[in-house]
This record gives sequence, C-alpha cells and structure tokens, in this order.
Amino acid sequence: MTRLVHLRADGVSLVLDGEPDLLPAVLHWGADLGSTTDDDLRALRSVLVPPVVPNTMDEPVRLCVLAQHADGWAGLPGLRGHRGGRDWSPRFTATSWEPVVASEGGGTLTVRAVDPVARLDLGLTIRLEPSGLVRLQAVLRNDDPAEPYQLDGLVLTVPVPVTSAELLDLTGRWSHERVPQRQPFTVGARVRDSRRGRTGHDASLLLAAGAPGFGFRSGEAWAVHTAWSGNHRTYAERLPSGHAVLGGGELLLPGEVSLAPGKSYTTPWLVAAYGDGLDEASARIHTWLRSRPGHPRSPRPVVLNTWEAVYFDHDLATLTRLADVAADVGVERFVLDDGWFRGRRHDRAGLGDWYVDEAVWPDGLEPLVSHVRGLGMEFGLWVEPEMVNLDSDLARGHPDWVLATGGRLPPESRHQQVLDLAVPEAFEYVLGRLDALLGEYDIAFLKWDHNRDLVDAGHGPDGRPGVHDQTVAVYRLLDELRRRHPGVEVESCSSGGGRADLEILSRTDRVWASDCNDALERQRIQRWTGMLLPPELVGAHIGPPVSHTTGRTHRLAFRAGTALAGHLGIEWDISRAESGERAELAAWVSLYRRLRPLLHSGTVVHADHAHPWVHGVIAGDRTHAVYWVVALESTVVAPPGRVRLPGLDPGRRYRVRPLSPGDHPPAFGTPPWMAGGEVVLPGIVLGRVGVEVPALWPESLLLLEVVAQ
Ligand code: DGJ
Repeated sequence: MTRLVHLRADGVSLVLDGEPDLLPAVLHWGADLGSTTDDDLRALRSVLVPPVVPNTMDEPVRLCVLAQHADGWAGLPGLRGHRGGRDWSPRFTATSWEPVVASEGGGTLTVRAVDPVARLDLGLTIRLEPSGLVRLQAVLRNDDPAEPYQLDGLVLTVPVPVTSAELLDLTGRWSHERVPQRQPFTVGARVRDSRRGRTGHDASLLLAAGAPGFGFRSGEAWAVHTAWSGNHRTYAERLPSGHAVLGGGELLLPGEVSLAPGKSYTTPWLVAAYGDGLDEASARIHTWLRSRPGHPRSPRPVVLNTWEAVYFDHDLATLTRLADVAADVGVERFVLDDGWFRGRRHDRAGLGDWYVDEAVWPDGLEPLVSHVRGLGMEFGLWVEPEMVNLDSDLARGHPDWVLATGGRLPPESRHQQVLDLAVPEAFEYVLGRLDALLGEYDIAFLKWDHNRDLVDAGHGPDGRPGVHDQTVAVYRLLDELRRRHPGVEVESCSSGGGRADLEILSRTDRVWASDCNDALERQRIQRWTGMLLPPELVGAHIGPPVSHTTGRTHRLAFRAGTALAGHLGIEWDISRAESGERAELAAWVSLYRRLRPLLHSGTVVHADHAHPWVHGVIAGDRTHAVYWVVALESTVVAPPGRVRLPGLDPGRRYRVRPLSPGDHPPAFGTPPWMAGGEVVLPGIVLGRVGVEVPALWPESLLLLEVVAQ
C-alpha cells in the first residue's frame, strides 16, 4: 500500500508522505495541484529529495510533522521529554496509516506510531477541512509498564517554502490589542511564547510567513494558530539546510505533565491556513468556524453592556432607566456587568462570592431581570469564575484553593488571585454557584471574564505547576455548564481580548475584542482580530462620545460605523444621551439589524490601500456587499484617489451607493458621482479600477452598499 496521500479542498492541496513506515512529512501544503495519480505523487516525492551537501547528514533530513532530533533535525524538536534523562530522543515508526478522503473535499489522515525503545506511542491526526484549512493534533501515550514519562513539550510543525521570506505576527497590550509586526524570516527561530496562563493580549494569534510584502489580496501566505488558552508557543524557524517551518503547541512548565504508565497527553490543535493573500487564508478559518454545529447562527442580538455606563455603581432605578432607553433604541440583550455580587463595590473585594449582594439588590436580581425581559430583551450577566479576591468569604474559608507556589502568594494583579479549579471542591463550588444562578434567573448570556495573568501558579500543598490543569479545568467547567444550560451563550472576555483563541471559542460564542471602545483603536483591533475570527464572533460596542480608555472624542457615525463591523453593542450611559443622539443611535441599530444576515455570513475582504483603509463583507453569492472606507488620520494626499472594492463578481454589474443613517460623513470634498447618489458598474471595474471617494476628515468613515443588478 502506498503511503502517499493527496488531499484537496477549495484550492488547497496537502500532500503527505509516510513511506516507508515513517511519520508523515508534508511534501506540499499550498495551492491546489489538481488531480494526481500514485505515479505522479511518487515522482513528486522523488523531485523533492534535496541533494546532500558537505558536512551534513549523509541522508537528507526528513522533516516530519513531529520534527525528530533522531532524524538529524537540528531545529526545535517536536517532542521533548525523558525518563530520568533516558528515552529523550525518540524515533517513531508508523504502525498504521489511514487516509480518509471526504466527499465534500479534504479528508483526514490518522497515523499511529511507536518507539519500542523509548516505550512511547504516538497518534497523529491531520485534517484538511472542506474550507482548505489544515488542522493537526497529536496524542502521546507512555507505554512503559512502570516508569512515568516526563513530558517537557510537544509541538507540531508544517513546512513553508523557502520563498516565504517575511513574517507577520501580532502583539499588543490591555486596551491596545492586535498590533501587527513584520520582519524578515531569517535563519533562526522566532518564538512567540505566552507564559501568562491565558492566550494573552500580546498573543501572535496568527503567525504568517509569506512572499515579501504579502498583503490581504495577493502574495502567498502560510499562517498558523495554536488553539490553546493557557501557556503556549507559536513559532517560525528557518535552518541553513533550507528548511522553513511554522509550528506550535502548549508550553509546559517544569514537571507540569508527567505521564503515568498508560496515560496520554493530547496537544492543542495546530491550525494552518494557506492563501494567496491573507484574506483567503482568513476565509478558510472563518468558513471552517461557520461550519461547526455549535457556531452561533441566530441573529446576533444588539447588546447593551452596563460597564462603561455605571461601572460598580449598581442601583435598580438607574439600571431600569438604562434598560428602558436601551429597549427604545433597539437593544436586544441587556448585560449586567461586574458589581452585582457580595461585597463587590470596587475591584478589591468580592470575587468568588457568587451570590447576589443583598445590600445592593435586596430583592435579588429578579426585579431587573423581569423588567429587562418585560421590555423584550434578553438578560446577560458578568462572571469571573476562575478568580478570587483575598477579601472574600471564599478566600477566607479556603485559603488553600488559591494557586500559589514557594510558600508565598503570587503578586496580585487587579487585586486578585486565581482559584485552583483542579481542586475538586473548588471546581464543584464554582460550578454549583453558576448553575444555581442560571437556574434561578432567566439568563441568556454570560460574559465570562478573566482579569489577570497566571503567575507562580502552583497547586497546594507542594506548589507543583498548575497552569495546564487550570486550562483543562476551565474547559471542563464551561463544557459542563453548557451541557446543563445548552441555551446560554457565553462570551470569552479577558480584560478585553486576552483570551481569543480557537479552543476557547469551541465552547464560547464570541470574544470581547478589547476594553477599548475608541473607534480609531477599534479599527485596528477588529481588522487584525478578524484575521482569525469572523465578524459575528467579535464583540464591538459603541462607546460614549469621549472614550474612557483614550480620552479621544469621536462622532457617533465613526463609533457606530466601526461597531457595525462586529457583533454590535452599546457601552455608554445612553440614559444621558440627548434625544437627537438617541434617534441617530436607533438608526444605526436598525441598520445593523438589516445588514447582520449579510455581515455575519459573508466573506471579509480588505483592499491593500495604506490610506484610506477599505474593508468589506460580501455575501456568499456575491449579490450584496458592504464596504467601509476609513480615514484613520490626516494625510498629505487629498483627495485620497480611487479606492478599490475587492472581491465582487467581475462579470456582474453592481449599484453602489453611500450608506449612512445620519448625514454624509464629514469631508473636505465629495466626488461628483456621489452627488448623484449612486453609480452602476461591473464588479471588475469596482475591484480593479475603483471609485473616487471623499477626502474624509480624519477619524471618520464612509459606508458603501453594493447590490448586484
Ligand atoms: C474587564 C472587562 O474586559 C470589562 O469589559 C469589564 O467587564 C471589567 N473587566 C469588569 O470588571
């Protein structure tokens, strides 16, 4: 039986080679190669064997998806581990090779392999999804009958061509997430580690390698994402041998995973997206996400979140008034943020005491919940289940439930510590409280927060590292809660966008992209969050006129037009807004409600303009699209010139017209075609030539609606 398999899906080919009895190596991952015979694959394999040059291994080094030091691989090894200094350099032989080609495109290769000397068993799953997305996972089992295997790390890799000479990844901080950074892909490793016990505001999110200058619309790009919410590593490595790889896996702390005889460890999924341009790579992830049975499909409700409206200042009359105004402008989900539980008058106390505060809510939350429900809105509640303030009954009663090591407490962050969810009683307590709240009140949505890094996070009493267990326990907690309350949606929030990864998203329904509601910052944050996540999974709120996190002032059209690009909400004390403002807000809300079927199912595109930014969403059948033209700053060139509207059907004619619930956006000049209100042009003209747009004021945007004729 040949151990060469060619999987194809939606313009992507993945050719895997396992001959003879070896771990799979990727011969090709990239553009579709068309149909191939076994002879073609064997010929392909033969032409990809490199020559041997002096002072290297006598046989060319074969790079497997689990890179093996024992094969002569001089880069970061796939598996690091040992038994008291032995069995540290395994070499696996495949015992089974099971490719399954799916009728809808793509398929799965499952491989089992053993190293009888190191007494290890390895299972590999490599999938090509129908969207052309590649996903890889490994399971390692300790087959020694008596001795544990100390696992230090297990990362998987995919090769990228030598022509991928540039790297792009993201970084950031609280309230300033998703800052792109580019650099040459030179020899050496670019290792993006997160040791925060959460995905991180600075997470690479996607690490892409590509042809120099690759953009959204062109330039081949290969990108990986490590789907894990705890410590993790995502990396790119180039060796003098000509190999270039992208990889990722969990980052294990010393001694964190010791496999008892017969026990297994499962890696996070490594998600790999290829595209001619980043838009195509992202679309593969978006399409795959949307194909999941659990993907949110109901219209994404307009949210009002109380945080920036009232902060900790909870008061039934104020919140009832806010709910009235919210319902008036078209809000569909009212979310009560932090401050409702015992002792939580500020951020120094209360976390862990998940009982409604009798002092603030003498009749419980019911009066507010029924008021909100009576207005036709859903009710949502903020929780932060993994955390504890030392000033809480929970911490006073169970000081040993706090993650810590070294006989000391970790440094506080936001005055809080982390509850050790690997302690069964702590897990049961939190599960019980959340279950009780969801049982008692008509709650449709939990905003699940996580406001600090895990530092010095050890289990009592001896302080063994606890981040891996904590991450797994959080997944278990969410899974169990969702099993008990299947209708409840959950948002992954972590001081804004600190926990936005594909594993948390397999059990949550959206992420809170950032605590920053400043529309200017949000343009960047949403643009780059969107490389991984489609708009319906990205919470985007209209903040107050003066941003609480930057002090910038923006017009409602810029704030609302920016929030329109995600799962829209409002985070602003609109009970104090003037009636004109409320009317304009209501118009934006109704525009969102009209457009959301398109915005939350369509393909996201970006034009490769430096200024203004142009991005859009195009319906699957390419009959309808919305584009944003965004002036981030004041520029020397004005008017900005033609902007392209990419992604439309080249052969169709489209009517283009500006779209704005309020006045036309502020501009120094408007092109004549816009004075006429609309224009009809073929998709090829819109995509390849473009249209003139106004010389927009800085920090403003223009929306264009495009409808096929
Ligand atoms: C951090 C979140 O990101 C905010 O939206 C808000 O929920 C606060 N925590 C509440 O403490």
